[in-house]
Amino acid sequence: MTDRDLLHIPIALLLIRHPYAKDFFTILGLPSTARQVTVEAFFASLDQDHIDNLGLIREELGLRLEAFIAQMEKLKSGKAPTLQSITLCGGRDKDGRLENIRLELRPGDVVSVVGPTGSGKSRLLADVECLAQGDTPSGRHLLIDGQAPDESLWLGGEQRLVAQLSQNMNFVMDVSVREFLTLHADSRLVTDSEAAVAQIFSTAVLLAGEPFTLDTPVTALSGGQSRALMIADVACLSASPIVLIDEIENAGVDRRKALDLLVKQEKIVLLATHDPLLALLGQRRLVIRNGGIADIIATSDVERTLLHKLNSFDRKFSELRDRVRHGQRLNFDLDEFLAECIRPAGHPGED
Ligand SMILES: Nc1ncnc2c1ncn2[C@@H]1O[C@H](COP(=O)(O)OP(=O)(O)OP(=O)(O)O)[C@@H](O)[C@H]1O
Ligand SMILES: [Mg+2]
Repeated sequence: MTDRDLLHIPIALLLIRHPYAKDFFTILGLPSTARQVTVEAFFASLDQDHIDNLGLIREELGLRLEAFIAQMEKLKSGKAPTLQSITLCGGRDKDGRLENIRLELRPGDVVSVVGPTGSGKSRLLADVECLAQGDTPSGRHLLIDGQAPDESLWLGGEQRLVAQLSQNMNFVMDVSVREFLTLHADSRLVTDSEAAVAQIFSTAVLLAGEPFTLDTPVTALSGGQSRALMIADVACLSASPIVLIDEIENAGVDRRKALDLLVKQEKIVLLATHDPLLALLGQRRLVIRNGGIADIIATSDVERTLLHKLNSFDRKFSELRDRVRHGQRLNFDLDEFLAECIRPAGHPGED
């Protein structure tokens, strides 16, 4: 069906052919009585302010609808992408020196990416994201299951191989958290979307520092809350087997919980971070210097034991931060505080 065909049929007919398109029209504010009009007539009748408020452009609505339907059809026929491994084949650092690296990652692997500001951590994640084929500044190559990826892997939307969690989440449509999650669950053709929404929401609230509700508009979420929502969404619903996380520590999200959640889903996780504690959560860490991978360090048993203790320090420090954040004054005995920090915390599952 072409864009033109779509525009000229009554909405009621379109919905018989593509029932899942109902959400598209609901968001645009279609009253259930108006389904006899053609798609084109409906788009033309929409109030300009309403379209502006949704962050949409009238002339693009047809294309959007077409893309939405195309993606859904692809989803219905396709399976979630699966893979055995990705292999990162080294390129060059900023001075053109060869990296001489061949790193294989499998589902369940968590690899941190550390290095000073500007060293090239985000570049490395971007190389994975675009499945670089020597065509990025680093000259790196990615192999999927040991082979150069073929065209079919460059799928958009839900079938993407790679999900990226970046600091900036731009929600274009002003819908509530509930509507956003329902839309997403429906678009994945989840059978019990209500249960999926409840699961993602409770997970997101667990991760976010500040609580929010299902009725909160997504555009009113703070950076940390929207990050938490996206992490929960990726963990619970996304089919992407590779997850890239850039600088999770600035987002006010419970990092440890977020990571545990993603690891449980047997995904390959690459995590760029400035936070040493977070870096130690990975089984390995890539040390980036001057644009190149200078070293790959496996997290040692000593480090894991240290991490356990450092986490209890971290928790105590977080409590202090929270108190200041909530407008309280600090007044405590430092020696007592330090003693409390090193007292065995006894948190199971920390190692
Ligand atoms: N191997 C490389 N060859 C050429 N340019 C590179 C290479 N690696 C990184 N760069 C470039 O260096 C710049 C800084 O890299 P990037 O943004 O990845 O740093 P970063 O480690 O993420 O920094 P920050 O910690 O501030 O986020 C970018 O313009 C990036 O494209
Ligand atoms: Mg960066």
